[in-house]
Amino acid sequence: MLKKTIEQAFNEQMNKELASAYIYAAMAADFAVKNYNGFSRWMTAQAREEMAHAQKFYEFLLERGGRPLYDTLEKPQKSWDSVRAAFEHALRHEQFITKSIDELVNLARKEDDKAAEIFLQWFVTEQVEEEDSVETVLAKFELAGEDKRGLYLLDKELGSRE
Ligand SMILES: [Fe+2]
Ligand SMILES: [Fe+2]
Repeated sequence: MLKKTIEQAFNEQMNKELASAYIYAAMAADFAVKNYNGFSRWMTAQAREEMAHAQKFYEFLLERGGRPLYDTLEKPQKSWDSVRAAFEHALRHEQFITKSIDELVNLARKEDDKAAEIFLQWFVTEQVEEEDSVETVLAKFELAGEDKRGLYLLDKELGSRE
């Protein structure tokens, strides 16, 4: 039996994952119109991952007899001043999501919902990777620099993401 508190919190997280996808898709579009096709491809892959995260919550809710509810998503920012500014935004956003997942773990423990707690373990680990992958890109800006040549090289490198 799924408690209402867990059902509501998991729905909120499902929508946060969808909102993440929305933000990253908007970044991908902004990069694409600025001819940064590699950065765009990387962010498109990121947006798809967020959709998959949302789907995990959707399936868990259904399996536990809950009701997935799709909410209104906030309109994402349209453009970013620089590629680096977008990645800095992405890092802040991932840190916000990590905090949100941590709070869900606390709630699952409080409600003594073992299945929810175990389900969330995957996300705890995933958030470590998510923050690390954005931090790695930001570190590359330090190395390659943000002049045209540096951006060109980074765009090429990030474009190889599957
Ligand atoms: Fe996510
Ligand atoms: Fe993420």
